[in-house]
Amino acid sequence: MPKKGPLRLITFEGGEGCGKSTQIANLTAHLKSLGFSVVQTREPGGTPVAEALRQVVLTGNDQSFDPMGEFLIMCAARRSHCRDVIIPALTKGHWVLVDRFYDSSWVYQGFVQGLDTKWIDQMNEQVTDGLVPGLTVLLDGDPSLTIERLKERGESTNRFDVKPLSFHQKVRQGFLKRAELVNKKTPTRMEVINALHSIDEISSSIQAILHKRWGLTHG
Ligand code: TYD
Repeated sequence: MPKKGPLRLITFEGGEGCGKSTQIANLTAHLKSLGFSVVQTREPGGTPVAEALRQVVLTGNDQSFDPMGEFLIMCAARRSHCRDVIIPALTKGHWVLVDRFYDSSWVYQGFVQGLDTKWIDQMNEQVTDGLVPGLTVLLDGDPSLTIERLKERGESTNRFDVKPLSFHQKVRQGFLKRAELVNKKTPTRMEVINALHSIDEISSSIQAILHKRWGLTHG
């Protein structure tokens, strides 16, 4: 893996309906327009094994899981994803843009559902061979508005989307707490962006961060 500078691994985080997929698509197009090669992927998922595990964990019913069971499935999926997709792509010098990564486990299974967050961090470090994203974009917005947007778009929902508003508010709180803690340890790894700004404004802010952080010119 290239040793110089922050890893070309960019993760996108945030609650449901905060617009991650649109921003990932826009950043992919931007990087490609500069001549870079980009791998766009998601968690849980990204390999056949991890996509199968995604089906299991997102479509089962709540009674079948506890936070530890959920997390262990996420870990198995993440291991496959890191080993077979993320690490090989970074080694080849590609940019890797991921829709959710281990910060989601810290928030959903840890902060919100009470699983030991220190253990989550230790497990994630092992499962990912110590990968640290060069940038994590946290799209932050009031869930009463972002969830509404999700419903308006009529997108398919999963086991987490349909939880009560109080759950989504706790998710938001969790991500903001995570950003605070992460940035104490690895300053500026997480950038908090207002998810309620226009799509273009958000895309421009993300591009500006990238250009500054990596001094981008062309691929
Ligand atoms: P997805 O449909 O991709 O949701 P979104 O479009 O909001 O990203 O489903 C992913 C769900 O999985 C999401 O609700 C969060 C949850 N999740 C965890 O609980 N822990 C994790 O480690 C990850 C990666 C996701």
